[in-house]
Amino acid sequence: MALDAAPLAFIAAAPPVATAPPSHASTSAPRRIGGTASVAATALAVGAVVGRGSVARRATAVKKKGVRVVEGKEIPWNLFSPKAPYKGSCVSKETITTKTALVNWETCHVIMDHGGKVPYIEGQSIGVIAPGPDKKGETPAKIRLYSIASSSPGDDESNKTVSLVVKRVVEVSGKGWCEYSNVPQGQDAEFPDAEKVYRGVCSSHICDMNAGDDVMITGPTGAEMLLPEDPEANMIFMATGTGIAPFRSHLRHLFHDKVSKGNFKGVAWLFLGVPYSESLLYDEEWKEMQAEFPDQFRYDYAVSCEEKCEKNKINGEMWVQHKMMQHSDDLWDLVKDPKTHVYMCGLKGMESGFAECFQERVEAEGMVYAEFLKKMKKDKRYHVEVY
Ligand SMILES: Cc1cc2nc3c(=O)[nH]c(=O)nc-3n(C[C@H](O)[C@H](O)[C@H](O)COP(=O)(O)OP(=O)(O)OC[C@H]3O[C@@H](n4cnc5c(N)ncnc54)[C@H](O)[C@@H]3O)c2cc1C
Ligand SMILES: NC(=O)c1ccc[n+]([C@@H]2O[C@H](COP(=O)([O-])OP(=O)(O)OC[C@H]3O[C@@H](n4cnc5c(N)ncnc54)[C@H](OP(=O)(O)O)[C@@H]3O)[C@@H](O)[C@H]2O)c1
Repeated sequence: MALDAAPLAFIAAAPPVATAPPSHASTSAPRRIGGTASVAATALAVGAVVGRGSVARRATAVKKKGVRVVEGKEIPWNLFSPKAPYKGSCVSKETITTKTALVNWETCHVIMDHGGKVPYIEGQSIGVIAPGPDKKGETPAKIRLYSIASSSPGDDESNKTVSLVVKRVVEVSGKGWCEYSNVPQGQDAEFPDAEKVYRGVCSSHICDMNAGDDVMITGPTGAEMLLPEDPEANMIFMATGTGIAPFRSHLRHLFHDKVSKGNFKGVAWLFLGVPYSESLLYDEEWKEMQAEFPDQFRYDYAVSCEEKCEKNKINGEMWVQHKMMQHSDDLWDLVKDPKTHVYMCGLKGMESGFAECFQERVEAEGMVYAEFLKKMKKDKRYHVEVY
């Protein structure tokens, strides 16, 4: 594939490799958020930066609504609850995949207006409440979480929008797994002949949205996927499908937004796994970033249904971890570097995939994989949001 021949120049730009991270190494403090004029911004301004030693005391002693202290910084947190959600509106909705053999082929990019009232930082999630009925008939439905796919200024950099990348859940009997049904038999417009059709409650609500429609938003929440504060940190991003969301948020912050572009001095390498070429998400954005930042950004993808890989003992297809194995020399140098953070988002299988990639390397250097991983976690440079 053409991308495999992408320049390796940025590897040379990576900081020197150290096999044993210093015990004090921790580059994981989340970034301070900018001055969004909002409920949270007022609260956040009060907190500013606090000394690391005082964090724990402060986190327990001070309880401010809409704010949480993470690694010594205050970040917006659950400004809006399921009982009192923010009523935003849909700015736009676009289907960003094209049809494949799969019934659940459709993924949408949705921009929502939050009027500056739901500030968030890169790596967080929001909740959406669909009108219902939910699986068991509740109206409105229970919240569903979605990783935010925009950086904090939003796609239009107005500080007033939040974007999501949502896959439409569709299950049809005879076309893959389908246990439940919430469409009366014969009445599904797309699959009238199917015995059972299940359409995801919240993903359908979001993917069916039109500009101007109301949307009930909760949050923001989440601290696992925040970016490190060190501008010289490196990032390896592993995404399956819509697991790309937090990485789009990160990458726009690092390489796109007016307020932050140019500050990042490290390298970022994105691996995206999807079933078909038609399912690639934001492919053009990544290619543009790569063209603009060839020494700092690299992008590789694994298209499972189109590429075989004998290293995949489960179904013989190319998954993100197998694509990574093709670059394991360069990646291992990065993984060992105490300034490198590894992020995974999407399917749970990626965690064992990461082990498959690096366990032998770890052991070849006389370390025990479990200990190596423990140290990465302790140093807060192993970030996982999968299920
Ligand atoms: C932190 C986090 C971040 C996420 N980020 C994203 C994201 O960025 N993009 C994205 O697309 N998704 C994301 N998700 C997933 C998202 O939250 C929803 O789970 C997803 O959109 C499906 O919701 P739904 O309401 O459409 O489906 P549901 O209607 O909730 O259906 C989900 C499943 O439940 C099954 N089901 C139906 N009835 C029953 C029943 N009675 N008992 C048991 N099971 C039943 C269905 O068959 C279906 O497989 C994220 C989840 C988490 C936790
Ligand atoms: N923050 C979060 O926690 C978060 C955010 C966004 C999404 N998600 C979740 O992530 C999942 C993404 O699913 P999706 O439907 O959007 O993706 P998708 O489009 O179906 O793509 C998933 C890709 O991963 C491959 N794959 C399957 N098993 C794998 C494994 N063990 N290791 C690595 N790759 C594997 C698939 O290959 P095959 O074709 O061989 O199956 C496919 O190519 C969903 O469950 C979604 O809800 C979580």
